[in-house]
Amino acid sequence: MTEELNPSTPEEEEQQIKPRKNGLYPGVSDELADNMASGWADTELRDLEPIGQAAHTADRRAALSARFPGERLVIPSGNLKTRSNDTEYSFRASTEYAYLTGDQSEDGVLVLEPTADGHRATIYLLPRSNRENGEFWLSGQGELWVGRRHSLTEAESLLGIPAKDVRELAAALGEATGPVRAVRGHDAGIEATLTDKVTAERDEELRVYLSEARAVKDAFEIAELQKACDSTARGFEDVVKVLDKAEATSERYIEGTFFLRARVEGNDVGYGSICAAGPHATTLHWVRNDGQVRSGDLLLLDAGVETNELYTADITRTLPINGRYSELQRKIYDAVYDAQEAGIAAVRPGAKFRDFHDASQHVLAERLVEWGLLEGPVERVLELGLQRRWTLHGTGHMLGMDVHDCAAARTEAYVDGTLEPGMCLTVEPGLYFQADDLTVPEEYRGIGVRIEDDILVTEDGNRNLSESLPRQADEVEAWMASLKS
Ligand code: GLY
Ligand code: MN
Ligand code: MN
Repeated sequence: MTEELNPSTPEEEEQQIKPRKNGLYPGVSDELADNMASGWADTELRDLEPIGQAAHTADRRAALSARFPGERLVIPSGNLKTRSNDTEYSFRASTEYAYLTGDQSEDGVLVLEPTADGHRATIYLLPRSNRENGEFWLSGQGELWVGRRHSLTEAESLLGIPAKDVRELAAALGEATGPVRAVRGHDAGIEATLTDKVTAERDEELRVYLSEARAVKDAFEIAELQKACDSTARGFEDVVKVLDKAEATSERYIEGTFFLRARVEGNDVGYGSICAAGPHATTLHWVRNDGQVRSGDLLLLDAGVETNELYTADITRTLPINGRYSELQRKIYDAVYDAQEAGIAAVRPGAKFRDFHDASQHVLAERLVEWGLLEGPVERVLELGLQRRWTLHGTGHMLGMDVHDCAAARTEAYVDGTLEPGMCLTVEPGLYFQADDLTVPEEYRGIGVRIEDDILVTEDGNRNLSESLPRQADEVEAWMASLKS
């Protein structure tokens, strides 16, 4: 017994007991092994209700099945990534897997097996740890180290999908015949078992399908996105309340404050928070967040809470750190606000995806000409794209489980596509005057403004899911004052 439980024996590898590498268990006596193997209560959870989105995930799997009849479909959740030695980065299940199952376990794999009239779904999971062979306390993935998992029976009840031990999957896939498609990039071990069975082109079609399928959100998803926006709004309030502490430290105080809200109310932040004070606001993806926060400057805060079901908000407010916009800050802010208003007004079913971008860009180009930064007429500026020196990025993107959702969709289904009820997108125009931009008056340099909201396309127009956060300049100032008093 002692020999078999030695962390380095081949038998142990056979049992898939992968010891933690911290050397705490050089040997285990028979007595200890026997002792640890027994004396544990039955904790099986019975009469579990299905998770809230089980009916929705079933619909999503049915649509996927109809698109790829007669083919085996393999959708992995992904594996833990080592940070150093026996510590790992925090895990986030692949969007495709979570979308189709509602599960978020590492190492899980959804397989749709073709049948005569569709597919049979099976979810392959790591089951509860074996206590008799010591796996639960000697393996790095043992529940004593990483926490209790659901039994396969529990998982079946919760997810509404038959569950099997994932350690049987490689052999099952190895023996399988017929066409296979897999979602790549999440589980190298599973991909290795499929190498001679899948092709990159066929896998890409599956990835594209799953990206496009997510464009129109169902009722569960819309409720999650609203929840994400509401938590994010509370996170922005938290930040306004501690701006004096950020002034005494750095942008990191803002990042940490927002992160606390994200972790308490949700799963995480949906992307690295951009906490950009002063000239950092002109760096589009400023996530170092190690800069000074100074009274008189603007703070561009672009952040989103990801809910426990993995839907994220993506909201930006550009706030005067001392509570009042200067005259020039307000002039630039108002231009971006007007551009955003025009953009939001262009979001409705039947509109082209590009319409809201064009509407916002038109307003910004007009202002840049009016301020003498560009020579008109405006139509010439837009035709040549000259405003882009300061507008820099597209005016928005699909939003959902990924902050840049549906990213693998075909151009005709997304950027060249038409808006439909249930789509959710950001409208986020901005103006950015770099600190070293010699083509603008000195007082403009180092000012960056973006305003970003999360807009749901409805049957008759749109609904702003992030409308609880003020946007108009006077309202922003009043809101900040109310939080500080
Ligand atoms: N935070 C990334 C974006 O706004 O698209
Ligand atoms: Mn965005
Ligand atoms: Mn953003």
